[in-house]
Amino acid sequence: MSAAVENQRTVEIELVNGHGGVDPRKWEDLFLPTPLKLENRLRAQKIEARLSKLMLCGSTLRRVGEVFEKEIEAGLRQQPSSLQMENTYVPELPDGTEEGSFLALDLGGTNFRVLFLELKAGQLLREKVKHYHINDALRLGPGEDLFNFLADCVQDFLVSQSMEKETFSLGFTFSFPMRQHSISSGELITWTKSFNCGGMDGVDVAALLQRCLSARSLDVTVRVLLNDTTGTLVAGAHIDRNVGIGVILGTGSNGCYMERASRVLHWERPHSAVHDVCIDIEWGAFGDNGCLDFLRTEFDDEVDAKSLLVASFTFEKYIGGKYLGDLLTFTLSALARDGLFPADPNFRKLQTSHVSLFEEESCAGEVSRTLSALREACNSDLLSTADALVAQYVAHVISNRAAQLVSVCISTLLKRMDRPYVAVAVDGSVFKHHPRIAKLMNKYIALLAPAHQFSLMIAEDGSGKGSALTAAIAARMATRGVARL
Ligand code: BGC
Repeated sequence: MSAAVENQRTVEIELVNGHGGVDPRKWEDLFLPTPLKLENRLRAQKIEARLSKLMLCGSTLRRVGEVFEKEIEAGLRQQPSSLQMENTYVPELPDGTEEGSFLALDLGGTNFRVLFLELKAGQLLREKVKHYHINDALRLGPGEDLFNFLADCVQDFLVSQSMEKETFSLGFTFSFPMRQHSISSGELITWTKSFNCGGMDGVDVAALLQRCLSARSLDVTVRVLLNDTTGTLVAGAHIDRNVGIGVILGTGSNGCYMERASRVLHWERPHSAVHDVCIDIEWGAFGDNGCLDFLRTEFDDEVDAKSLLVASFTFEKYIGGKYLGDLLTFTLSALARDGLFPADPNFRKLQTSHVSLFEEESCAGEVSRTLSALREACNSDLLSTADALVAQYVAHVISNRAAQLVSVCISTLLKRMDRPYVAVAVDGSVFKHHPRIAKLMNKYIALLAPAHQFSLMIAEDGSGKGSALTAAIAARMATRGVARL
């Protein structure tokens, strides 16, 4: 038997047994990032040692999983927890009968989208979309201004399509943590990512949007209010009925899953006929109560200190695309301070797209684009090929940790759902553009939940298509006479 085949067999055995009975050290080794290979071995060793806190071993990840499970339970029971575990009031997934024309709004990033979607027998027949830029003043100013702007965009969109006189149901994808009172109402809990509008305390975002739309005499009714993870789950389930988990790995990060309704305490609507319901976990805030402090590194402290919303969304700052570029910068700066890297990158010159680029070149065994990006970011010509390899290594270490942490969440959900097979619908720029992340996640989920069958699938445009599908599901339930959730 060749060494490669022998290795593969060993991994398979370990995947089935966890580390039980095989060789715990080998199991632990499977979590390590690829070692740094430099001609200067001493420098490589010092760098590896300096970054060791960013390298999580299997047992630490298991501990994270245990904490996650405890926080899930506490959140569902409405006990103190860093996880919101919000009831989305979405109790059904697409079944191929979704019909009608809908508007969908997608708010969460610096671009806001208005969409028109026409569905027939569950299939998308027609789609129109327009993007609108949300500037800093709107993202950081009064909430009323933002929502008036959203309504202006809807009006502009409808006029551009000569549809301003028509009647529409609308699905509002609002990708921030909410306290939902029904499938079509909810309050913002806190802003995240690059938004921080004032005056939104206790305001129902769907009602506010409705008011702004009605003030423009538009015959548009907000029928569903949902998070982008819910949209992703719904869009994924439209393709594969086995989808039970939705994940966003983009600027921000979050997950949702189908939970048994009987395990959920927060219900503000009659729900005796509901068997399962989609729960928006809001895992970006995991650890905000200190339960993950054992993971935190000095580099994370710096990322947090320089973020818009300090001391919140701890977990998102370890994995979200908004932060991986800063993590790369601060880690390289720390190496520079210790004389292990020749220059200090200027703040915000390295983005998450650089993390992907460095990883892509590292996979291809190249350095040229890494080197020119570094020279520009550091404003220095002194960087060498070895330095580019160091930056690629840092990108790899932080990508590996991000993949591991998302995998812990997904593997914990797989165990909790305990179904024979679950497809996980994933969307987001990091998942789509990072060259290694999907592969790493497949590996780590299998290592952490060896007895559970799963697959990761890309479910694009949950915020648009998923939103329209959810509005169609709500309409379908209403025609069946199901009590309005
Ligand atoms: C928000 C979530 C959202 C995620 C992905 C986070 O910052 O709190 O609601 O699902 O970003 O967009």
